[in-house]
Amino acid sequence: PRAHITLDRQAVVAPVRRRTFGSFVEHLGRSVYTGLYEPGHPTANEDGFRMDVVDLVRELGATTVRYPGGNFVSGFRWEDSVGPRERRPVRRDLAWRSLESNQVGLDEFARWLKLTDSELMLAVNVATRGILPALDLLEYANHPSGTTLSDQRVANGTPQPHDVRMWCLGNEMDGPWQTGFMTADDYGKLAARTAAAMKRADKDLELVVCGSSGSAMPTFGDWERTVLEHSYEHVDYVSCHAYYQEQDGDLGSFLASATDMDYFIDTVVATADHVGHKKRSRKRIDVSFDEWNVWYLKEHQESEKVHEEWRHAPRLLEDTYTVADAVVVGNLLMTLLRRSDRVTSASLAQLVNVIAPIMTEPGGPAWRQTTFHPFSITSRLASGEVIRPVIDSPVYETARYGEACLVDAVATVDEDRAAVFLVNRDVRETAQVTIDVRSLGSARVTEALTLADEDVYAKNTLAEQDRVTPAANKSAALVDGLLTIDLPPTSWTALALR
Ligand code: AHR
Repeated sequence: PRAHITLDRQAVVAPVRRRTFGSFVEHLGRSVYTGLYEPGHPTANEDGFRMDVVDLVRELGATTVRYPGGNFVSGFRWEDSVGPRERRPVRRDLAWRSLESNQVGLDEFARWLKLTDSELMLAVNVATRGILPALDLLEYANHPSGTTLSDQRVANGTPQPHDVRMWCLGNEMDGPWQTGFMTADDYGKLAARTAAAMKRADKDLELVVCGSSGSAMPTFGDWERTVLEHSYEHVDYVSCHAYYQEQDGDLGSFLASATDMDYFIDTVVATADHVGHKKRSRKRIDVSFDEWNVWYLKEHQESEKVHEEWRHAPRLLEDTYTVADAVVVGNLLMTLLRRSDRVTSASLAQLVNVIAPIMTEPGGPAWRQTTFHPFSITSRLASGEVIRPVIDSPVYETARYGEACLVDAVATVDEDRAAVFLVNRDVRETAQVTIDVRSLGSARVTEALTLADEDVYAKNTLAEQDRVTPAANKSAALVDGLLTIDLPPTSWTALALR
């Protein structure tokens, strides 16, 4: 196919939000234990954190990290995870049928975030606890000192408050799998009361109310409306969660997953605005897309039955990603960028070992999955403002999402540089793309990187850790403001311009 893209410097969507490049660490499987924390590992620091993982997280460019769940948070007592380690209890985690040793908790995790230079986004357990434990956690985390809980934090070795700005009011409360799941009415009322109480302590907190666990939930739409009718004035964000996978060998539909994400965002924004207008509110609720990724969930659900015994840090959800998965992840991130007007925070779910861009072996190496690359490159190159490209591309028909463009794109522009991100969803043909960049005033292409492979199911594994990496796209040329580039079949590309 041939596609023509026009970039207009004036067609600004919104600033690039650094929080778009957030991620997620849940106490799940080997995400924490033998993932980011492994005392005794050759690269471990004095806190037991693997520095090889820290280096990869920094390279990934993850900005905000959501913690400690996920489904885990709905059975979590935060008090278990602070104070002297030898006194911390071992608990059952019903969400993942695992044992939790609590050897890593809030204070350790905050120290790890300093190493990775990222921001903490904390979830409170509204499902099985309530308002007071949430307020206690807020006091422990954020109050400077002079109260019992803040002094406990100081005594535990953290003199400065963690100053956590973003807080999730529970997790996926619409899902029957959630310990303590609720109806929209019950949750909306509880979330409103919890949020109001937390804001009494600090009016500048940024609070995220749970939206739907996915757009296929039977309550989708109604859930957001009801929850926001109760909580609108007290919260700042509504969450979206979406996972995609190739199903029944339908690669064409899978590659168009970003069109579904777009539809999801449209619907949630429209619902939030509907409630806002009805309330005659001047306030705007933004979207926190705080779980998104490719996840072979169907396969996980089928294998779930065999995991009966209670184990510490079992191997769970350790998906190995393909080239096609990386193209989809890159495209989903492009969609989040393009919607930066309303999606002002997002979290790739997750970060280490569990449906993650980074994998580790206990005592062994850490490596990059295929999906690591588009995320890391986009986080590095996107800056300034997002601009909406005009895309003239042939379309194709997908079984799951209807018509989709074969070529998709988004661009960002800063004072002295610009970046363009592209995908070719055609599974057979190279796309020849022309991009009119005259309005950007860029003179040269400083980087052109493409992720593609003859085998779209190629993966990076322990045995072959760099089987799939981005390569220079030598076809890129910029002459008189017209950029031309060939995009191989099923590929993701980034261009940096100066
Ligand atoms: O990210 C894995 C799980 O997916 C999370 O715990 C939950 O919130 C979602 O269902």
